[in-house]
Amino acid sequence: MRRKIIAGNWKMNLRFDEAKALASAIRDGESAYRHEVILCPSFPYLTSLAQVLAGSKISLGAQNCADRENGAFTGEVSASMLASVGIPYVIIGHSERRIYYHESHAVLKDKINIALANGLKPIFCCGETKEVRLSEQQANYVERQLEESLFHLSEDDILRVIIAYEPVWAIGTGLTATPEQAQEMHHFIRTRIAARYGRAIADQIIIQYGGSMKPDNAAELLSQPDVDGGLIGGASLKADDFKAIIAAV
Ligand code: PGA
Repeated sequence: MRRKIIAGNWKMNLRFDEAKALASAIRDGESAYRHEVILCPSFPYLTSLAQVLAGSKISLGAQNCADRENGAFTGEVSASMLASVGIPYVIIGHSERRIYYHESHAVLKDKINIALANGLKPIFCCGETKEVRLSEQQANYVERQLEESLFHLSEDDILRVIIAYEPVWAIGTGLTATPEQAQEMHHFIRTRIAARYGRAIADQIIIQYGGSMKPDNAAELLSQPDVDGGLIGGASLKADDFKAIIAAV
């Protein structure tokens, strides 16, 4: 049985006092959680929130890292910096990074390599746009995202990656993939991993769903056999909603 992991992607939200209050509220409910939890706040809050969460089982992740090691890249944050302050996870390839910051398959491949080389565990996002879904090309589209940025990895390295399937048309829109649509794509992703790395590895990889997951749809989505958790945006900013998702199923 794969474990389920619920990650909160806070995006560019919350002031520091609000972030601390949210992290401690989530920590407070910990005994009721059925799944592993990762919180992904903005960079400036990571080390302070590590103190808020010290002694709990809740982990932290960054929302991005640079595609270069270190050096003259003003404004960037490197994977080695994140590792040096003890952050275990990093989201790579979120659709907002792909769309607004034009992060290409090649850049994301570099980020994945650098994150892994520094001992971070990437949460790699993939998922089709609305136009792609309407033309029923979602399988090809997602397969290409996996092939171009992930499938060069060794067996050991792919096992350190979490994949988040996030249909772009469902992110922040209130439109959620139906449990059947999510399961179909998660199963497809696992099948492609099996074709590349073998069934034993494919069966171990965590594939999260993201896109308007909320307390009222989480249980159904998380009950699908290939849905191993969630990457939650909007609902992760409300302690009660996020806690209800972590306590689901
Ligand atoms: P959402 O965002 O839950 O607000 O749709 C998910 C995400 O972008 O990771």
